[in-house]
Amino acid sequence: MIRSDSASAFITTEHEIAGARGSASDARRSAAEAALTRRSVRAYRDVPVTDEEVRQLLTLTGRAPSAFNLQPWRFVVIRDQATKDRLQAAAYGQKQVGEAPVVLAMYADMEDTMAHLDEVVHPDLPADKKAATIAMLERNFGGMTVEARGVWANTQANIALGYLLLIAESEGFHTSPMLGFDAETTKAILGLPAHATITALVALGHGAEDGFRSHRHEVDRVARFV
Ligand SMILES: Cc1cc2nc3c(=O)[nH]c(=O)nc-3n(C[C@H](O)[C@H](O)[C@H](O)COP(=O)(O)O)c2cc1C
Repeated sequence: MIRSDSASAFITTEHEIAGARGSASDARRSAAEAALTRRSVRAYRDVPVTDEEVRQLLTLTGRAPSAFNLQPWRFVVIRDQATKDRLQAAAYGQKQVGEAPVVLAMYADMEDTMAHLDEVVHPDLPADKKAATIAMLERNFGGMTVEARGVWANTQANIALGYLLLIAESEGFHTSPMLGFDAETTKAILGLPAHATITALVALGHGAEDGFRSHRHEVDRVARFV
């Protein structure tokens, strides 16, 4: 357990992080434990990850909030070795792409979102409110360029990326998020639309290494209490 008896006392020393890594290596972890223990892992064991497990991870990832609840994130789940090999080349040879049992290509597709606003808007809204909400969204985003919409959607998809990395760790998996790839080549390999913005490639599996020790700012370096 990472939390002590006092609800506000989180354990964050290196010693305690090491303890959490050791004690919970094969178990589910709380969000706090997962935040403390996760590291990027760039070498993977030959242990499969099932489609059912990926679906569960994506279901939980999809619980991420987004502005207007637009949920513009999309995923390609890649386990085909030939495709992973091509992606590895597009990712400048990063070996975790070819080695992990699953690679998730996560991208934002705001054009798909805009084309399906009727299914995006909350179904519990009465018809008049639903129509007004769709009109507001069309006004709000309709004046933007496709490129600007894509950039905006990617800010939302990054919220889900954070969820994915944390949830994968808490469910006992390891990940390596990557932005080091040629986006146009990656889009071509995966058949993504030209307007898509790739949020990240994420290698997913069971690690064959610990990853580098975490190095993070102290709270007082990044926060001011006023
Ligand atoms: C959006 C994103 C892109 C990243 N791109 C790469 C990458 O292309 N290659 C790589 O080896 N690591 C990549 N990283 C991993 C970071 O270097 C790593 O998260 C950071 O150093 C902190 O280490 P940790 O993940 O082990 O805590 C990326 C991380 C994020 C969140």
